[in-house]
Amino acid sequence: MRKLIIDTDPGVDDAMMILAALRAPELDVIGLTTVFGNCPVEIGTQNALRLLELEGHGDIPVSKGCGKALVVPLGEFPANVHGDDGLGNASFEAPKGKPLARHAAQFIIDTCKAFPGEVTLAPIGPLSNIGLALQLCPELPKYVREVVIMGGSCYAGGNISPVAEANIYHDPHAADMVFRADWPVVMVGLDVTQQIVMDNSFLNKLYAAQTPATDFLKRIQPLYQAFHANIYGFTAGEIHTHDPSVTAYLVKPDLFGTLETPVHVETNGRCMGFTIADPLKQWGERRAAKVCTRVNAEGVKNLLYDLLAR
Ligand code: RIB
Ligand code: CA
Repeated sequence: MRKLIIDTDPGVDDAMMILAALRAPELDVIGLTTVFGNCPVEIGTQNALRLLELEGHGDIPVSKGCGKALVVPLGEFPANVHGDDGLGNASFEAPKGKPLARHAAQFIIDTCKAFPGEVTLAPIGPLSNIGLALQLCPELPKYVREVVIMGGSCYAGGNISPVAEANIYHDPHAADMVFRADWPVVMVGLDVTQQIVMDNSFLNKLYAAQTPATDFLKRIQPLYQAFHANIYGFTAGEIHTHDPSVTAYLVKPDLFGTLETPVHVETNGRCMGFTIADPLKQWGERRAAKVCTRVNAEGVKNLLYDLLAR
């Protein structure tokens, strides 16, 4: 089993990613760390606790992290996408558990050092906690097995600006630190996540399973579907599959095709948050990341169905 820390801003699609990961026999979720992004970090932390309790995993620690980016100022939260509560305004009761007293960045450092070479980091929100952990512990990369990020877009355009994907845009300095560090990075960005589309027919089949996970998803997803309809003109309830694609990659990486290339992040100006692939290394030496550029979309959906409906 692969030991996993999910760094998250839950978040409607974060919820599907986390629920699927908790149900995957190949993955051992050993902590959730939270970050601002889809909602304020205090709300996201409550959502993380709630998701663990839903699946009977109240024993897994939750550690609250950054409420804003390392450098750029905090912007508006996307209540039109994820709701004021981060979970589609579905009005859930408060969770029973509490987060650890330790900051998420320190939790990441301590846990990776406790299991050298075993822990995979799965950041599915802005990269502030990971960037801060690198600042506090520059030798962190040598303790980490792999970093599998939902974020970025090299060839597919942006979703928060014409060129930038939201997670990278919210903390471009932290993101550039992550791509610059000497560790294996996989980028699961819009290049693939926008190719994986779940529509009403898929979602209704999922909801028909009536597991605690699918009942929960049925409550939180209508606002997220309405957002996709408004922005992309989707008419059959379609949603892009962003964060859950990371769970799919972790369980079955063969579903994805990758390009090995250094990635640079623009930190200024109107292209802020653009992830730039430099396969010819014309912008200097930097360890290559695996950028997902191709995907078996049906395979990803089938895998997520199997995890969530079982
Ligand atoms: O661009 C998609 C990403 O932004 C996802 O992680 C989603 O949860 C939002 O944070
Ligand atoms: Ca997210």
